Amino acid sequence: MSTQANDDVIAPVSAERLPVSAAAPNADRAVSGRTRTFDNPRLRKDFADQGAFLYLEDFLAPEVTAQLVHSARSLLDEVNRNYLPGHKQGGSVSRHTIDRLAPFVAELYRSKELIGWLEQLSGDKLQLSPADDPHAYALYYYTRPGDHIGWHYDTSYYDGRRYTLLLGVIDESSCRLDYELHTRNADVPDQPGSVQIPPGGLVFFDGDKLRHRITPAGANEMRVSLTFEYVTDPNMRPWRRFISNMKDAIAYFGFRQVFRQMTARGKDRS
Ligand SMILES: [Fe+2]
Repeated sequence: MSTQANDDVIAPVSAERLPVSAAAPNADRAVSGRTRTFDNPRLRKDFADQGAFLYLEDFLAPEVTAQLVHSARSLLDEVNRNYLPGHKQGGSVSRHTIDRLAPFVAELYRSKELIGWLEQLSGDKLQLSPADDPHAYALYYYTRPGDHIGWHYDTSYYDGRRYTLLLGVIDESSCRLDYELHTRNADVPDQPGSVQIPPGGLVFFDGDKLRHRITPAGANEMRVSLTFEYVTDPNMRPWRRFISNMKDAIAYFGFRQVFRQMTARGKDRS
């Protein structure tokens, strides 16, 4: 076999060049194809027993995972890097960028099948996050040594509860999700845990109940996760809105992304 022929066989195909988006799966169909195979009463019990937390190693349909991997790689140039000494270092792509460049992610976020299944798990009626919340759906990138996020809760600034759905997209890393269950429940001892979330894996939790962190990435590692945020009441008091926006601008997405939507709305009204 000539060198040329061999090169033809082994030449890697860049994910960016794959025509995945032309064949984006139907989100509802892909989700229901998976969730109808689960023992859902059991999962609902697990979620409740673990203090509003569930981890599933294998959740997404393979074609959905492939589409998300494609999107994550194609959005690398759009990543907003941020660094909060002692707490957080990493990159993120907000919903506003996803809306422009990766509409399948938004379709998956709005999937009635997905939301219905999460409602079964949580026992709550879930709503989409408001249009100006950059966390509604966002990609988080751990691509440089030391990228991590320290211990925190996904605090709800809304009047109701805030649920986080975390989906594994790319994991070529040693990063782990460390967590502690029951920290807000005085009647149950704290229970620590740790998972490495493979592509297609799922973590679902009540943001105010799960203390968690992502451990630092090493050299030449890459991890990308996708998170969806659902709420039980999308109203937010103005001073909480201010705190939430400042936090998002500094810690996650940058001022341009966070305040762009507000500015646009302001212009609409004038
Ligand atoms: Fe978090």
